Amino acid sequence: LADEKLSQTIRLFLNVAISFAGSIILFKIMPKFKDMFIRADLKGTDLSKKNKIQIPEAYGVISGAFFLIVTFLFIPLRFYETLAFNKELSHHQFIEYLAALLSIGCMIFLGFADDVLDLKWRDKLLLPTVASLPLLMVYFANINSTTIIVPYPLRPWLGYAMNLGFLYYVYMGMLAVFCTNAINIYAGINGIEVGQSLVIAFSVLISNLIEFNGPFRDNHIFSMYLIIPFIACAIPLFLYNKYPSRVFVGDTFCYFAGMTFAVVGILGHFSKFLLLFFIPQIFNFLLSIPQLFKFIPCPRHRMPKYNPETDLLEPSVVQFYDKDLSKISQLIFKVFRLFRFIRVTEKLDDKDKKLVQYESSNFTIINFYLTVFGPKREDQLTKQLLTLQIICCLIAFMIRYQLSKLFY
Ligand code: UD1
Ligand code: MG
Repeated sequence: LADEKLSQTIRLFLNVAISFAGSIILFKIMPKFKDMFIRADLKGTDLSKKNKIQIPEAYGVISGAFFLIVTFLFIPLRFYETLAFNKELSHHQFIEYLAALLSIGCMIFLGFADDVLDLKWRDKLLLPTVASLPLLMVYFANINSTTIIVPYPLRPWLGYAMNLGFLYYVYMGMLAVFCTNAINIYAGINGIEVGQSLVIAFSVLISNLIEFNGPFRDNHIFSMYLIIPFIACAIPLFLYNKYPSRVFVGDTFCYFAGMTFAVVGILGHFSKFLLLFFIPQIFNFLLSIPQLFKFIPCPRHRMPKYNPETDLLEPSVVQFYDKDLSKISQLIFKVFRLFRFIRVTEKLDDKDKKLVQYESSNFTIINFYLTVFGPKREDQLTKQLLTLQIICCLIAFMIRYQLSKLFY
């Protein structure tokens, strides 16, 4: 057993070492690709700046490619004892790792396709579900535990444990869709996509370290084998993407990050805990539902509006007429307005004085934050939202290690 612990430590050390090396190389070579991306028309305009400069977009693909290089190189290192000393290979662990990389690799590819081809909403929901199938199959073959422990208060009715069966697989498939899209729609200011992903990734790493000597040690080591290379590939990207952005990460990165979290959550067996790190993203998703499902008109961009006179970001708005809302849309609109998640002004139409025109801030956490705390400089806004993410992750740890004692 002591032997096994030693080799686990060696493997982790090897993982950290090649991740670190990858990170340094990535940081050095990133600027070199700039012209290549611009020439390939992979570029976007930074909408929140005075000078509307073109910035290379979809840089997440370089990060993702490096992640794959590092994790592929890690495969022989991970099984060095088999290669060097003929020790028996654990097929179970091998397949798990390969399936994880297959799902993440697919997602990087699909994200890049989205950046190049601008996919439709429907596809954005469908693709992560398909990409998570290898993962679910491995879960089925290796683990296939679909039983959940019921919280104390519900036990008189449901018993100690409940087998969710097929529904558990539906839940895991939806987790992949949620993680990928939730990061992609919490976006639009310099550094926020990679920043939030890094905070979540570090939280995952810390929870793995906390559980390192616990009964599920193997699951958490598996998670570390993926999350350490992820962090290593995301940090250089963050350094170029933070305010003022020199590169944009594209949907490629959002999908890559989301899928990595889903993979470690599912195969590492801590998906519920993982979701606790997504509190701001869950809030943003719930807030977005009226626009995502077209109850309220959804413009192409919902990112905050830049005011060149003050150099500050303000809530962006969407305009629509009272008469264009269905009964149910009106109800949703009223509720959101009542709780002040949105700021609304109304006026009478210039021509037809009976028509009421609404101007509502867009339904996102960033705009909500701006309506509450007032206009902000872009770099300040990113810093404050990332601080909020850190606070939420700390709350997640408190819920997991203190509050959950009351329920389990
Ligand atoms: C998602 C959001 C959209 C938001 C956009 C911002 C939903 C349903 N979609 O769309 O509301 O406006 O992300 O990324 O919520 N950009 C900047 N500064 C930044 C980051 C991006 O100006 O810091 C602009 C650039 O013009 C860039 C574009 O946003 O080219 C990228 O948008 P994209 O990722 O393609 O938008 P979606 O993911 O479709
Ligand atoms: Mg995007």
